[in-house]
Amino acid sequence: MKTVISIPELRAARAELPGPVGIVPTMGYLHEGHLSLARRAREECASVVTTIFVNPTQFAPEEDLDAYPRDLERDLGLLDEVGVDLVWMPTPEVIYPENFQTWVVVEDLTQVLEGASRPTHFRGVTTVVAKLFNVVQPQKAYFGQKDAQQAVVIQRMVKDLNFPVEIVVCSIVREPDGLAMSSRNAYLDPAQRQAATVLSRSLNAAKDAFQAGERGADQLRAIVMDIVNAEPLVALEYISCAHPETLLELDGSIERALLSMAVRVGKTRLIDNLVVGG
Ligand code: PAJ
Repeated sequence: MKTVISIPELRAARAELPGPVGIVPTMGYLHEGHLSLARRAREECASVVTTIFVNPTQFAPEEDLDAYPRDLERDLGLLDEVGVDLVWMPTPEVIYPENFQTWVVVEDLTQVLEGASRPTHFRGVTTVVAKLFNVVQPQKAYFGQKDAQQAVVIQRMVKDLNFPVEIVVCSIVREPDGLAMSSRNAYLDPAQRQAATVLSRSLNAAKDAFQAGERGADQLRAIVMDIVNAEPLVALEYISCAHPETLLELDGSIERALLSMAVRVGKTRLIDNLVVGG
């Protein structure tokens, strides 16, 4: 496994890789969720490139950029075990040289859900992902359903800007008790960690109701809300029942929906989602 930092080094190493090339963009502090993407890329592509970059432009000033957990040594060991060919770990200066001023913005899809509480977040995500695609020139790119809106936004960007990249969305990897794996779970103390199971518990209760015949969007949102509100350590930020592609909130009777939510457990913000009806 080769590791590179600068763009010239990356381009030289990339030129040696047989195609198809798969890219797995990450911010590091890797867990089984990230590794599931890398393993899928390993199965489907001749070469796998993973990027590790804690992208400053997707964090708002009050968010956890400086505190974001990092463990590069461990990450490289894990990627090596999966059989990744090339790891690109650029510095902020490599990605954002002085006087950087060009942004990629997906407009409507980024106004809702995560974008409503994090107004500059997706501009940072799409800009960095566009740059990673331009430099690495992968044929396939792997993203997690854990960040459902991010996957939808990136698929839109790829269509709108004609990137010749196929986006592969991989299922959410969970802890045995249901908590979706996240680098931010490391912030939780034991009581908060226990309380955080309420995300998957409440979403699963809504899914069970759907499977038992409940179709009301309001009713499904209410099921999640009531379970979260019964957990004193967890504050609900939003619960959405939306169209899985347009991300527009649904009313009345639904056939298929993305149920997604964000909560705060102490200072830690956690998200989770599931799709009902297909
Ligand atoms: P990061 O949070 O490090 O996640 C990297 C990728 O791993 C994303 O596609 C994310 O959806 C996926 N992932 C995280 N937890 C997962 C889980 N439990 N199951 C399945 N997949 C999971 O998302 C980002 O980084 C950044 O926004 C990035 C795309 C790298 C741009 O900076």
